[in-house]
Amino acid sequence: MTVPSRIDFALDLARRAGELLRTGYGHAGSVRYKGPIDPVTEYDLRSEAMIREAIQRTFPDDSVVGEEGGISGDGTGRWLVDPLDGTVNFAHAVPIFAVTLAYLQGDRPVLGVTYDPMRDEMFHASAGNGAWLNGQRLHVSACKQLDRALLITGFPYGIQSAPNNNLGHYAAFTMRSLGVRRLGSAALDLAYVAAGRFDAYWEFGIGPWDVASGMLMVEEAGGRVTRTDGQPDPLRDPISILASNAWLHPAMLAVLNSNEPTV
Ligand code: IPD
Ligand code: CA
Ligand code: CA
Repeated sequence: MTVPSRIDFALDLARRAGELLRTGYGHAGSVRYKGPIDPVTEYDLRSEAMIREAIQRTFPDDSVVGEEGGISGDGTGRWLVDPLDGTVNFAHAVPIFAVTLAYLQGDRPVLGVTYDPMRDEMFHASAGNGAWLNGQRLHVSACKQLDRALLITGFPYGIQSAPNNNLGHYAAFTMRSLGVRRLGSAALDLAYVAAGRFDAYWEFGIGPWDVASGMLMVEEAGGRVTRTDGQPDPLRDPISILASNAWLHPAMLAVLNSNEPTV
């Protein structure tokens, strides 16, 4: 089946998973740790189980890659699923988290849905058909100057041992922009770039399920998405991603690739 037949399905599924997360908000229960600072709650698992079951029942020829449960199925159409993006926030009752789903043909995201259940904000995009928030068409910002830009980034859970901990770039951009935020949900970071709320986002060492949906949203909203060295294919392992309103891309790349000392 085609992409259009999956859009309403994905919107409905993200909404239902988001409603499940909202029921757990404020009483997330026990937190298990996958790594030194990488938490998982019962709601990550329940949301993913709901999403995986619905995709497999409705599109048995598709495969699913979920953050918590890995891969199931071997179809050529592939879903990337982050059932709860922003787990640290969720576990601390900070209302910034989302469900995010992307459908890929080959290596290319062609459908992306990111739902913020606390604000009832449903972002989606499909290839060639624009990016949308609750029925309103999205456009990236028109900011052309780095010193007027509001930026957003994140840090890897492996920050204590990561070869690139992003702290040097965080400092460099903080000195050159209006400010750098850290919300804790890469899927929302990208959706907010598509919506023109932020002017650019970058991150290293993130999962494909974190960014696939938002990458498509930014492109469909008129922005540009590359690796942090300017090359194509941010989803290639190890992931590095720069998503901007397109105007700021050269200035962002210049800072990301300068030889300044890092922290
Ligand atoms: C994390 C968030 C965070 C990003 C991390 C991700 P999770 O996802 O998207 O913003 O900086 O790299 O792993 O664990 O909350 O699904
Ligand atoms: Ca995530
Ligand atoms: Ca997650």
